[in-house]
Amino acid sequence: MLTKLDQAIVNYPDFPVKGVLFRDLNPIYKQPELLKGLVREFSKKVQTLGHFDYIAGIEARGFILAVALAYELGCAFLPVRKKGKLPGKVQTVTYQLEYGEDSLQVQEDQDLRGAKILIVDDVFATGGTMRGVLELFRRCGAEPAFGVILDIKLSDRQALGAPNFALF
Ligand code: PRP
Ligand code: MG
Repeated sequence: MLTKLDQAIVNYPDFPVKGVLFRDLNPIYKQPELLKGLVREFSKKVQTLGHFDYIAGIEARGFILAVALAYELGCAFLPVRKKGKLPGKVQTVTYQLEYGEDSLQVQEDQDLRGAKILIVDDVFATGGTMRGVLELFRRCGAEPAFGVILDIKLSDRQALGAPNFALF
């Protein structure tokens, strides 16, 4: 199954801008057997890191797998959203992008102190997004770990100081 999943990823050179190789995971999501296989293979990896109370998905592409995974594992789902989308009291982190910066937020309507949270995203590139979200949950007093489908190896995942894995 891992080979089938890997082979389904389609490369688009020069998208969205010249010089960038876009790795399109949508062909996996669009085929029922591959989507099921992805959730199962990812779940196996999660179990090697132990038990989690929450699966957190990062808007937008992280949501796709994160909800399916939370359902599969019987965990709660936490949405990490771009600034200005979540009502009530929120925790905010601003992080660096390749050009400029962006902010992500999580709601503070429940006590996350000591909670074991697995942050899920599709791709790990510079690691800026994941670094920010780890910081967000650490500020809430939680114990975050992370998993991604694809690491395109622009930076060292281990440098972020949290348990983690990449499927590819
Ligand atoms: C992409 C991808 C990851 C992030 C990885 O999201 O889905 O979240 O970039 O890049 P990094 O490791 O360099 O931070 P993007 O910000 O393009 O938004 P989207 O998920 O809403 O498409
Ligand atoms: Mg994203």
